[in-house]
Amino acid sequence: MATLINGKEISQKVRGEVKLETEAFKKETGITPGLAVILVGDDPASKIYVGNKKKACDEVGFNSFEYILSESTEQGELISLIEKLNADPSVHGILCQLPLPKHIDEREIIAAISPKKDVDAFHPVNVGKIMIGDYDFLPCTPAGVMELIHSAGISVAGKKCTVVGRSNIVGKPMAMLLLHENGTVTICHSKTTDLAKECRDADILVAAVGRAKLITADMIKEGAAVIDVGMNRDENGKLCGDVDFSEAEKKASYITPVPGGVGPMTIAMLMRNTLTAAKLSSKG
Ligand code: GUN
Repeated sequence: MATLINGKEISQKVRGEVKLETEAFKKETGITPGLAVILVGDDPASKIYVGNKKKACDEVGFNSFEYILSESTEQGELISLIEKLNADPSVHGILCQLPLPKHIDEREIIAAISPKKDVDAFHPVNVGKIMIGDYDFLPCTPAGVMELIHSAGISVAGKKCTVVGRSNIVGKPMAMLLLHENGTVTICHSKTTDLAKECRDADILVAAVGRAKLITADMIKEGAAVIDVGMNRDENGKLCGDVDFSEAEKKASYITPVPGGVGPMTIAMLMRNTLTAAKLSSKG
């Protein structure tokens, strides 16, 4: 039976560390880190995420600025808001919740955020920095996964790592972070010819496709570490990951639950990135 990696507990520890560091930083500089979160439209899941980000800011002692814009907001309006926030010295981090409505060009929005305030690490400059291993911020979800792997005492060097999913937000940067730690990394996607085999080869398996219970126990190597980034609803409407947890936990050595695994880590890493951005800006 696998050991559960408790993301709720580990995220609380990270948030506690950020809170203490924030207190010290405020004392030293008089600066309160500030995070601006922009939400366009009224996707219910996004609303919950944005609400949770605000709560986390309050808890660690940051200022938070929320911008809830209507679904019909135009590209130009959103760019103007981002430019205003780029120039605002009380704002150290800017996050525009994705996905954006279809009429908005997501790439242009991401590129408009100052790389120094890009606490998601989605801007092309930050993506490039991650590629060469010289970065200020890491994208929150992959960084959270690495934190879980480290907390469980799992070493990546020399291990076969399979990442299922190639999104810009999770799959691609996830693969890069595992590579930085000397894993031998395979990225799987919808055109992969034998997904089951690629998964079965993995000592560390990261599932990030957004398909309920796609990864079944027969696709998992005995003793593998299984990290589930998925957040889906099963046939009964119950929250579940990309991994069929109840069977997988019998084969894995470590596994993350959904909910309570990767999810809470994302916000904890966002808090850490925002503090880093505030510290960098205080150094000029
Ligand atoms: N939508 C889902 N995950 C994320 C994230 O990490 N950042 C942003 N900005 N939007 C998201």
